[in-house]
Amino acid sequence: MLEVAHLFVHYGHVLAVRDLSLSIGKNQVVGLVGANGAGKTSTLNAISGLISRSGTISLDGAPLGSDTANIVRRGVVQVAQGRKLFADMTVLENLELGGFLLKRAIVKERIEAQMVQFPLLRQRAQQRAGTLSGGEQQMLAIARALMAEPRYLLIDEPCLGLSPKMVLHLSDIILALHHRGISILLVEQNTAFVFSLAERAFVIENGSLVLAGSPAELKENDRVRSAYLGI
Ligand SMILES: Nc1ncnc2c1ncn2[C@@H]1O[C@H](COP(=O)(O)OP(=O)(O)OP(=O)(O)O)[C@@H](O)[C@H]1O
Ligand SMILES: [Mg+2]
Repeated sequence: MLEVAHLFVHYGHVLAVRDLSLSIGKNQVVGLVGANGAGKTSTLNAISGLISRSGTISLDGAPLGSDTANIVRRGVVQVAQGRKLFADMTVLENLELGGFLLKRAIVKERIEAQMVQFPLLRQRAQQRAGTLSGGEQQMLAIARALMAEPRYLLIDEPCLGLSPKMVLHLSDIILALHHRGISILLVEQNTAFVFSLAERAFVIENGSLVLAGSPAELKENDRVRSAYLGI
């Protein structure tokens, strides 16, 4: 279980995350929804060790620490918002970078596995990542994260800029990862997407969690319906 307790993130005088606690159980899909600037990315970056924070973050009862490489080694991997691919590098090179902590032979094996899973990446292996479509880039970003064989995958706004058809495809990909036993923290402004996949979801406003529950429970909430589902 990945547990975040009493997390605070400051940027100078700006308090971006305040006293946030949540947990992701083994093989769970958990959602985190909230508006622009609510503190979603800050929460993920704090878990991944990319920014300083206070509070405790633990994995299976042991502190996760803040050494980014060690966090990846322990199986907690983030797919960054905006995909953060190396635009001038090829698809293959981006995948290789996802395995930077691994031996060459293992990297080769895992790239092959990703290309079996995402055949399109094989076709595009020599294409520069920056020239892929938005949906293809999202696929590559997920495949690159999977190179580290995560147990916990933190995905930041994967739906951003994707067509409805691509969003459906993404939904299948996330379900397939879930069925392989990967636990997922899914961060999205697309609340309907999160509710269709997550077992539990948290709502964050101004850095604080304001609601938590199953999608069925949250859908009953008037505030969630008007502010997050637009119904
Ligand atoms: N590096 C930074 N320096 C200063 N303030 C920051 C920094 N990063 C984020 N913030 C501020 O922290 C708050 C939370 O930002 P964050 O990126 O976590 O929100 P978010 O929920 O991911 O939003 P979005 O949906 O737009 O991605 C915002 O007010 C933002 O301006
Ligand atoms: Mg964000």
